[in-house]
Amino acid sequence: MNKISLSPKIATFPMPASVISVGTGEEANLITLAYVGKVCLNPPIIAISIQPKRHSYQLIEEHGEFVINYPTIEQLRETDYCGTRSGRDVNKWNELNLTKEEASIVKVPMIKEFPWNMECKVIKRIELGSHICYFGEAVAVHTDPYYIKNGNLDPEKINSFAYLSGFYIELKKDILGTHGFSFE
Ligand SMILES: Cc1cc2nc3c(=O)[nH]c(=O)nc-3n(C[C@H](O)[C@H](O)[C@H](O)COP(=O)(O)O)c2cc1C
Repeated sequence: MNKISLSPKIATFPMPASVISVGTGEEANLITLAYVGKVCLNPPIIAISIQPKRHSYQLIEEHGEFVINYPTIEQLRETDYCGTRSGRDVNKWNELNLTKEEASIVKVPMIKEFPWNMECKVIKRIELGSHICYFGEAVAVHTDPYYIKNGNLDPEKINSFAYLSGFYIELKKDILGTHGFSFE
């Protein structure tokens, strides 16, 4: 295999595209983030990175809480919308007819129409450069039981997608193997 060298800034694959709620009440805003990933199981910690120029930046700084709303393909348009308009100019909830649902622990609202919501409290922030990284401890998760099998998300039910090089790509549901299948 002849390999070429690429910029270290190139995206990793796969990246999620999740819609994050920040702020509270009338000020609550939505922002799409690709820089989202679980980084610790116990306690459950998710890292997200936001550029200070985003409207959402001030809101997460002020409240120290956020909700990750994971979309399925049905929420693809909403996901792109929240990543291409600023809360400074539009009320994304109203424009997309999305409903604020009260979270159980944090004060930031969840998106009722999104199938999977994870409430997080910021436990640490690091200024990395272009982005500020927030480590959020997941304190509650909500989903429709339809998506759950044996206590976990059922890969055959979640119609998910990933983000790569500016494209949204469907994640096929065909199961290729289970964790540890290489022992067989
Ligand atoms: C798929 C996708 C992924 C994005 N990922 C990030 C990200 O990880 N961090 C970030 O700061 N902005 C990211 N953005 C850009 C923001 O979502 C966008 O600038 C948004 O309009 C900011 O909204 P706000 O000004 O209301 O906070 C992404 C946009 C898209 C479409």
